Amino acid sequence: MTERATDRIEELIRSAESLASKSWFDRAGIARTRRAMDRLHPEDLEPDSVGRFSPGRGWSSQCVCSHSRFDIGLFFVPAGQVIPLHDHPFMTVFQRILWGPFEIRAFDWDQRFPWSGLARSTYEITAGGDAGTLLILPAYGNLHTLKALEDGLFLDCVMPPYDESDGRVCHYYGQVGTVATTDGTLTRLEVVDGP
Ligand SMILES: [Fe+2]
Repeated sequence: MTERATDRIEELIRSAESLASKSWFDRAGIARTRRAMDRLHPEDLEPDSVGRFSPGRGWSSQCVCSHSRFDIGLFFVPAGQVIPLHDHPFMTVFQRILWGPFEIRAFDWDQRFPWSGLARSTYEITAGGDAGTLLILPAYGNLHTLKALEDGLFLDCVMPPYDESDGRVCHYYGQVGTVATTDGTLTRLEVVDGP
């Protein structure tokens, strides 16, 4: 039987629902959601790209599924535009680049200096449509910034969703310096106004 786009989207939503009802560290649930993201084709999601990449336009988004326990959304980023460094406090994010490439830089807060604003580089990669789904955890790669090298599109499945009343607020950060330690160089981050 031929698998349809709706089957692939429904499988992503079912797997996200199942994982969100357990816990973010359920390994089998994470693997299932990751597989469901990997199997999606960009056209499955019917991206409404009309006008999204016009000259001078900033990045924009399109909701795919809004659920009390997770959000799935598409992000359109014109060539050269940057999604500034931001966090996903206490959240897990499945991120799949659909059109790219993107330069992605991620950080973790340095655990030796909690709440000091010092962060350690987690990874710096260039990822295109053939890259697998990236997994962002509360303590792994939770701060990140993405720059589109060409008109780009990515899909995020975020669980649980941002919710100010529950302490999950998106902060944006500027990189204001570096600090040399015996264990490598840390980057000092400061909260800045969002876009
Ligand atoms: Fe993000």
